[in-house]
Amino acid sequence: MEMTFDQGLHLAARLCEQGVFNQAADLLTKLLGISPNHPDALFLRGHVHLRTGEIGPGIERMRRAVGTAPHRSDLKSALCGALFTAGDIPGLFLLAADAIVTAEGKSLPEALYLMIAATERTAISAPPFAACRTLVAGIGTKPGDRLMDMLAAGQRSIPPEQMPAVYLGLAYILHCGGADDDAVEMLGRAGSALEVTSPPPPSETNYADLAATYDDNSLHRGCNDMMMSVIEAHLPAHVASILDACCGTGLLGTFLRPRTKYLSGFDLSAEMLDLARARSVYDSLTVADASSDTAVPAGPFDAVVSSAALHHIEDLRPFISNAARRLRSGGYLIFSTEATTDRSHRGVSGVGGFAHSRAYLLAAAEAAGLETISISLRLHRRYPGFYAVFRRP
Ligand SMILES: C[S@@+](CC[C@H](N)C(=O)[O-])C[C@H]1O[C@@H](n2cnc3c(N)ncnc32)[C@H](O)[C@@H]1O
Repeated sequence: MEMTFDQGLHLAARLCEQGVFNQAADLLTKLLGISPNHPDALFLRGHVHLRTGEIGPGIERMRRAVGTAPHRSDLKSALCGALFTAGDIPGLFLLAADAIVTAEGKSLPEALYLMIAATERTAISAPPFAACRTLVAGIGTKPGDRLMDMLAAGQRSIPPEQMPAVYLGLAYILHCGGADDDAVEMLGRAGSALEVTSPPPPSETNYADLAATYDDNSLHRGCNDMMMSVIEAHLPAHVASILDACCGTGLLGTFLRPRTKYLSGFDLSAEMLDLARARSVYDSLTVADASSDTAVPAGPFDAVVSSAALHHIEDLRPFISNAARRLRSGGYLIFSTEATTDRSHRGVSGVGGFAHSRAYLLAAAEAAGLETISISLRLHRRYPGFYAVFRRP
């Protein structure tokens, strides 16, 4: 019996659904012989390739389909899904950004959702900044609200337990796109969503089990690279004494050593300190709790620094005031922590541990007699966090 093109396409889709891939592929080959650039036929052929494990040819056909119908946001969204499955995360970001900015349609939230999921897989060292910038610049004012609206309008209902991850993903995208205020807002929402669905996490102070593999984790090295650039931007090339608070295995110590005559460090975990000691870069190392009044050694120091650790402490005021007292006049206190909105003041971090607001950090520094040089949002532990720089007048 003769079939129309559309009937053939419909049958191919049904064969594919039923898992009869050989017949679907034969039929699609015939249809593409009649109309080589038909977007649905091309796309379905790509889908059959993917279902039979031929990832490369599948993605290639799907891209061709999208290329022939650039306004079909449904095809772009579906290609996003395929790229995600194939692990092509930069490709996914670029396509999703393009889909969200250039087209309208109910499948766009799906693309956005996939893009957020992709942030979960993105290494801190290779963020797809360009795609995020395109996206954030393309959606104009209040990008955070617009993105949330798109998600809310989506057919996909996001389970509440996934909301922290969604907010974190948006924070990442917004930060890479340069919309830091919106990013901080999303970080605050991530913490609130987590607080609603699960109890606040413990302060995670036991690093005994983590110590042996700590340095192998690219996330930890990424945080340190960011901290080094902040320190380099503020401290003179060489000073008399530096304290590395919550120094862990001493990743930062290797960078600090040539910059100071005397280098001191402390940490709560004896196991982490054993590894720091093995580096032979610290002049003194002690076990101490940063939240206690006696943790910060006498000094005086030209700088007290702390990288990727103070999110373990809910109330930072004792540490900040103790560190301030140990600084020389003109000395710097430089640390990173998780970020939340000024409304929250301080709270649970969606990434784990505790988050602190800009207003909270400013008030704590002012009470300790420190002047604020900067509190900037930068990539911290996979997602953005605050890097604070204070100075003793
Ligand atoms: C993610 S690691 C960071 C280590 C190091 N600063 C670095 O950048 O590699 C966090 C460290 O904070 C330490 N820590 C957590 N809570 C602490 C506290 N209250 N006082 C001192 N150290 C603490 C942990 O033992 C761990 O070594």
